[in-house]
Formats: sequence, structure tokens, C-alpha cells
Amino acid sequence: MSKMRKTIAVLPGDGVGPEVTRAAVQLLGDCAAVFEHDFDFREFAFGGAAIERFGTPLPEETLAGCRSCDAILLGAIGGPGWDSLPLEQRPEAGLLGLRKQLGLYINLRPIQLRPALQGISPLRRDRISGCDFEIVRELAGDIYFGVHEQRGEGSDASARDVASYTASEIERIARYAFERAAARNRHVTSVDKANVLATSALWRNTVTRVSRDYPEITLEHLYVDNAAMQILLRPAQFDVILTGNLFGDILSDEAAALAGSIGLIPSMSRGAANQPALYEPIHGSAPSLAGKDVACPLGAIFSATLLLRESFGLDIEAQWIESAVDRVLDHGYRTMDIAESVSRVLRSSEFTAHIRAELHESLVHSERYGWGV
Ligand code: IPM
Ligand code: MG
Repeated sequence: MSKMRKTIAVLPGDGVGPEVTRAAVQLLGDCAAVFEHDFDFREFAFGGAAIERFGTPLPEETLAGCRSCDAILLGAIGGPGWDSLPLEQRPEAGLLGLRKQLGLYINLRPIQLRPALQGISPLRRDRISGCDFEIVRELAGDIYFGVHEQRGEGSDASARDVASYTASEIERIARYAFERAAARNRHVTSVDKANVLATSALWRNTVTRVSRDYPEITLEHLYVDNAAMQILLRPAQFDVILTGNLFGDILSDEAAALAGSIGLIPSMSRGAANQPALYEPIHGSAPSLAGKDVACPLGAIFSATLLLRESFGLDIEAQWIESAVDRVLDHGYRTMDIAESVSRVLRSSEFTAHIRAELHESLVHSERYGWGV
């Protein structure tokens, strides 16, 4: 196997972001050492942490650093300390700015249950079983990037947020979703609110037009309210869910809860194929857990394995990490949020240490008996 030299920008951010990112970086470091890759990690300030140090959530140096790397690993941003700032100065504005500046228009959120964690889903086993789908969320348009305006004071105050989409913005994300589905179970569910919104009517027409180029894929349209219900009732019916920026934000938290905890779900944000993609757990900065060494690092760890697969094409390495995680879960080790009554609840750093020990174990095993035995 050829050795890879790659640079990875690390943006720990706020709250539990630095803790979970540290765990993911440790595992990527182990992976580099074992498979003889050369991963160069470069850390940059971002979000609230960057506001404190540089007065802005997205400093120039951070943006330039991200552009110059092969991939970006982000922790989480935001916290009560910055909630009273105007919208355009908050940590979230840094994330939206980074998405815009790097042209990240694809957001992929795989909703997969780890076999050992079937029992922690809030759904009954018969309903959750077979749940394995991907949410493809458009990330660069919609109401997120339209005008946001507040006027007046008191009971005379008013506000508006403008949602807009162009056909070409919809077309490029739709193509991505159809291509993902082609490599999976060939089913796309497009989610909109075409019975009310003009942007959704354009969405539905455009997705239907694009679908003609993918005759092997079945396309279904759902209104977002029905989709929210179907995700709870029969999650196993979905293969790829394609949706806009706002609906994707909301539905992905709902879907993550089904997998047992929002702490488990990774994401990839991507633009043009030759540009660096950004990987982050979809959970937030969880300020109440920060610094307590209790946050689940798996969302960040699965973001790292998604990075290995999607940006570097390193499937075996990703699988090596994921199977070590599955064995640790099988042994009953858990962080607090994913514990069951019989689990051994560990601190976050202990949990990561178990995964690293398990990685090492599997190497000893493979040296003795041959890889994969
Ligand atoms: C997400 C988050 C962000 C979003 C926030 C932090 C701006 O909720 O990535 O899902 O709304 O896109
Ligand atoms: Mg969200």
C-alpha cells in the first residue's frame, strides 16, 4: 500500500469540541503510524475560541489554513458566552462563512446504527431494525444565506429571512444524491414543502428533471411534515434523503436521535471535488458537558473515518478504526449518553483509550494470524 502524505486542518472550536477532536486526532495519528502514512495536523482557532483571541469567529489565518490543507476536521462551535452577540458576529456566522468561502454545498449525514447500540434507540427494535440511510442536505443556499433583517422595537418590531434557490444550485446537489444512491440501494426521497413554498416547487421540478438522467434510481417526493413522521414510523424505508438546507438541518437531528444519540453521527461538507472537504460531528458544543470528560467522542471519531474514506480513499484504515469501536461497544464500554443499564460507563478519555488499546490488539492479532482473520 502506498504511503500517503496529507495535511489536515484541525478546528477544535468550543465547548466539547476540543475534547472530541483530540480523540479523533489521536486515532488518526495511530492510523498514520500503523499504515505508515504521514498526516500533518495543523490547528486553527475557530468559532467562539477565535472571537476571544482574534475578535472574529473566522480569522483570515484559519480560512487560509483550511484552504491549504487536504481535509478539515472540526469539533463544534457556539456557547452561551456569545449568544447575546448580533447574528453576524456569533460563532455560527463563522461556520456559515467557512461553508460559503470554501464553496461547501454538499452536506452528507449518514444515519447508521452500530450493531451493539440497537438497544439505545428510542424506537422499538422492530421499527429501528434495517435503518441505514444518508441525508444529503444542500448547504450553500436556502433561507440560511438569504437576507436576514430585523427592524423596529417592541411591538412595532418585525423581521424577515429570505429563502431562495436557483435551479443550478438544486441540480448540483440532486446529482450528488443520485450518485450516492447509485452506489447504495438506488432510491432517493426528495423532501420539500412544494404545496406551500416557491423554492420547494422549483426544488421538486428540478429534482424530477435531473432524475431522468438516472433511470436506474427510483425517486419519491415527500412533504417535509410527512417526512418527519415517516422517519419515526419506518426509518428503514429510506436510502438517500435529498433535501434543502433548513429541512436538512432539522431532519438530521431527528434522524440522529433514532440512531441512539446525536453524539454518534458524523458529517461531511464538500464542494468541488478538488477542494478540501470538512468533517464534523453533527452535535453541538454541549456547553454543560464541556471540560467534564464525559462527552461521547464517537461523532468526531466517525467523522475522522468518513474523512479517511471520502477524502483519502483509505477504506481499510477506516474499517480498522470502526471495527475497534464496535468491539469496545460489544464489550459493554460506553460513555454516559450511550449507556444501557448493563454498561460500564467510562469517562470520555478512558473510552478513547479502550478504542486505542483495541486497535493495538487487532494488530497483534493480524501479525500473528494474518490480516482480517
Ligand atoms: C448544523 C448546525 C449548524 C446549522 C449551526 C451551528 C449553524 O446546526 O451543522 O446542523 O444550522 O447548519
Ligand atoms: Mg443542525
